[in-house]
Amino acid sequence: MAEYKTIPVSDDLASNAWADDALYRKMYQESVINPEGFWREHGERIHWFKPYTRVKDVSYDDHRIEIKWFQDGTTNVSWNCLDRHLEEKGDQVAIYWEGDNPKHSSQISYRELHERVCRFANVLKSQGVRRGDVIAVYMPMVVEASIAMLACTRIGAIHSVIFAGFSPEAVAGRVIDSHAKILITADEGVRGGKTIPLKANVDEALTHTGVKSIEKVIVFQKTGNRIAWYKHRDIWWHELEPLASPHCEAREMDAESPLFILYTSGSTGKPKGVLHTTGGYLVYASMTHQYVFNYKDGDVYWCNADVGWITGHSYVVYGPLCNGATIVMHEGLPNYPSVSRISEIVDKYQINTLYTAPTAIRALMAHGQDVIKNTNRTSLKLLGSVGEPINPEAWMWYRKTIGQDKCPVVDTWWQTETGGIMITPLPGATPLKPGSATRPFFGVLPAIVDGLGNIQEGPCEGNLVMIDSWPGQARTVYGNHDRFVHTYFSKFKGMYFTGDGARRDEDGYYWITGRVDDVLNVAGHRMGTAEIESAMVSHSHVAEAAVVGYPHEIKGQGIYVYVTLNKGVSYSEELAGELRDWVRREIGPIATPDIIQNAPGLPKTRSGKIMRRILRQIAAGEFENLGDTSTLADPSVIDQLIDNREAAG
Ligand code: PRX
Repeated sequence: MAEYKTIPVSDDLASNAWADDALYRKMYQESVINPEGFWREHGERIHWFKPYTRVKDVSYDDHRIEIKWFQDGTTNVSWNCLDRHLEEKGDQVAIYWEGDNPKHSSQISYRELHERVCRFANVLKSQGVRRGDVIAVYMPMVVEASIAMLACTRIGAIHSVIFAGFSPEAVAGRVIDSHAKILITADEGVRGGKTIPLKANVDEALTHTGVKSIEKVIVFQKTGNRIAWYKHRDIWWHELEPLASPHCEAREMDAESPLFILYTSGSTGKPKGVLHTTGGYLVYASMTHQYVFNYKDGDVYWCNADVGWITGHSYVVYGPLCNGATIVMHEGLPNYPSVSRISEIVDKYQINTLYTAPTAIRALMAHGQDVIKNTNRTSLKLLGSVGEPINPEAWMWYRKTIGQDKCPVVDTWWQTETGGIMITPLPGATPLKPGSATRPFFGVLPAIVDGLGNIQEGPCEGNLVMIDSWPGQARTVYGNHDRFVHTYFSKFKGMYFTGDGARRDEDGYYWITGRVDDVLNVAGHRMGTAEIESAMVSHSHVAEAAVVGYPHEIKGQGIYVYVTLNKGVSYSEELAGELRDWVRREIGPIATPDIIQNAPGLPKTRSGKIMRRILRQIAAGEFENLGDTSTLADPSVIDQLIDNREAAG
């Protein structure tokens, strides 16, 4: 790996940013020495109907994991994202919407957005939605996706956004787990010139025997193509919205009322419904958005994540709108219809901040200068990266080619569970090292522990944990607090375990090394190996499957599947293709295996445990130093796996 020099903060940035290095250090110290005092002050950045007197009530105690922030205050997320801005920014553009097709675009001001959110909140009420009800949102990247989310928050309903790339099976699983009452979708989505049959997927999901809770399906008309219609259940969005009143008072919510559920993959079992609550989440999302992106009034800000992921929640919708920003929402893909699309969108809206994922950066990088053809990108002031480790080469390319060597690159490390950015440079404060997420945000206390949970000092490498809470932290797994406790607090007592490994260098900078559990990060999408294995073995020809990640040039990690077929079934390319399609159908296109290898035997210990370390090495083509294989029940499977590796490509 190439070594790059540290890039200092320019004087200009240091004096124009919210924090320079001295202020960062001062505020950081305050935030960790006196978190109560620090957050008492900064919690006031949002509007509270009833001010809080209590700030932090957190127990990481073995017997009681309980996380509460600002608990006796009341507020409303939609009020903070909309009503609060009306007086001064009513006519300012809240969202520039850019279609998949470059000829399609629209814009909506804060006043218009407020009115539409109020109307849609009334639509939800007219369908019997009450505070605490769960609303599933399975929408493409259209303005209405954010309207649906904000409308839920306005009346105290809990949204559960399901990424529009997930399969009917995955939608059904999430609806069953959350007991969603209403599902909001579109007739079809459009991405990269292709349509995605969202309503048809919903129809199929709802035939699943376990789905009992959905009373109505509200359908936004996006493409206008023909879809199946079930009169007793389906309702058109555009028929209801105009009839609804544009007045809807924002409901006063307790700080700890549930705000949203978002499903994310772990190392075992089905995806977990991570629950975020109202007050602390909004304080944290908006504060990180301001400091990390050095957001200033008037900036045009574009995060090209999908609202189906946490990045879309915190940094497309809630953080920036709470700060009164003008945001850009893009319906389509970063390389469609051509590889210069990102650069063209930057110029079109004179975007100041671009926040994207390493996988997109690497995919574009492969096209060299074509990515910036006929564009100047002079409006850009800052570039951000999120979702997976960014290799220094991609980091440098991003800075030089997209940012013309003048914009700081903030590599932001965080997770669905953290609600907001945790380890990150602050543009006016932090000298940058390409490939490092650098230093903790205010109030964040990371530590590196060894396998036994001993905290390591100085430069070191190990497991990344957080030793205290921050306001944006997830509070529980919806309906299953034991699972929350078990997943995040059982491995290392008294600390939150992130599931990631990290190295800390001599300057105290953190370098995230990737997941240390059985979770993959494929093109920035988090996926459990267990989920893919369970999809594989549900195919009638499959006896057993083991899934590991392997290094992939563009996606960071690719999905490598070892499959053991049932007796009497012979392996063929055709069957491999069928299995690939099977997983796509079961989970969604993002889970499509990159490589499938026929594995008549898997490396197992005598107690039957699969030795994944060996499978990872073989997948990566590292056949030397396979380590100790003497504990294997049948060491001869190794040679066979190595022989078959070549055939798998
Ligand atoms: O492994 C880390 C990786 O993404 C995981 C979290 O995935 P998810 O919950 O889907 O949230 C993604 C968007 C916040 C982490 O456990 N990850 C995220 N950001 C980075 C990262 N790895 C390295 N560097 C990052 N900047």
